[in-house]
Amino acid sequence: MRKSKFLSIFLAVFLSAALMAGCGSDTGRRNREVRIGMTVYDEYDTFLSELTEDFMADVAEVNAREQGTAVSVLRFNAAQSQITQNEQVEKMISKGCNVICVNLVDRTDPSMIIEMAREADIPVIFFNRELVEEDLMSWDRLYYVGADAFESGKIEGRTAAAYLKAHPETDRSGDGVIQYVVLEGEAGHQDSIVRSETSVDALIEEGIQIEKLESSIANWNRGQAQNRMGQLIDRHGDAIELVLANNDDMALGAADEYDRRETPAKERPAIIGIDGTKVGLEGVRNEKLIGTVYNDRKGQAEAMLKLALAVAAGEPADDLPLADGKYIRLPYAEITMENIDQYDN
Ligand code: GAL
Repeated sequence: MRKSKFLSIFLAVFLSAALMAGCGSDTGRRNREVRIGMTVYDEYDTFLSELTEDFMADVAEVNAREQGTAVSVLRFNAAQSQITQNEQVEKMISKGCNVICVNLVDRTDPSMIIEMAREADIPVIFFNRELVEEDLMSWDRLYYVGADAFESGKIEGRTAAAYLKAHPETDRSGDGVIQYVVLEGEAGHQDSIVRSETSVDALIEEGIQIEKLESSIANWNRGQAQNRMGQLIDRHGDAIELVLANNDDMALGAADEYDRRETPAKERPAIIGIDGTKVGLEGVRNEKLIGTVYNDRKGQAEAMLKLALAVAAGEPADDLPLADGKYIRLPYAEITMENIDQYDN
């Protein structure tokens, strides 16, 4: 999709200033080094693996373009353990990282990481899994990059409502009410809580009569979602007319279960996700999903790198859209068959 003009301009200005201020005597050699430490809660999470890929591509672009600059990334997979993640941050600090990017395992437990970083005076950018405001405000070198969960749920609900209005046959029972199930991400994750609520609110606001049959937690995971969908079908049979999934992987897991059961297309519910991952887009293209909501991983990766380079150098990040001097949130966008060609990633 769009490539980073903003990033290029920012980096040109930032890096030339940094180089002028840096070890100028090493002309012609790599005389500016930024070491970024990065840890994700689970490297097998589809959305995060794509976001990391985008981030690494942006880093490679900076290194290729900016002579005399070497940005390196020390990457870790926390494999769903907060204790492991704390140890990884300790390692990053001992290996001399200038800035640390953390996708928390437990968003309610950043205290060890904050304490270690503060002691070593190394800024931390949390991303995607949002810590509580009180923790983020506890030190001035802490930041958050993500998106607005309320918006994603609203767009999901509105997109589903538009589809239902255009496809009255989705109400297979013909009772004027759409019976639905929700596939939820991790319990306690800001995106699961908010998306589950706001998607339903938006459907109601759009005037759709709905009835909730059940919701089930599938932890963002395609395999778990397929399993949960199997249980939901066993309990509710073909009464299910709409599946609202908190992300694309779970939406695809639901579709996988209907595939496994060889359910004909017109007997399936409408299924919708959030993320616009590569597999999610493919799901929309081949009509397994009625739509998805773009979670701007490219924008988030780009913002995180810009912020990382600025704060590592102790520069003010004035030209970045920082809310309260702390938050960068990228907007979501609707994706359906109508506009999917704009999303060729
Ligand atoms: C959400 C995303 C999910 C999953 C989760 C992990 O924003 O929609 O697919 O990646 O983050 O924290």
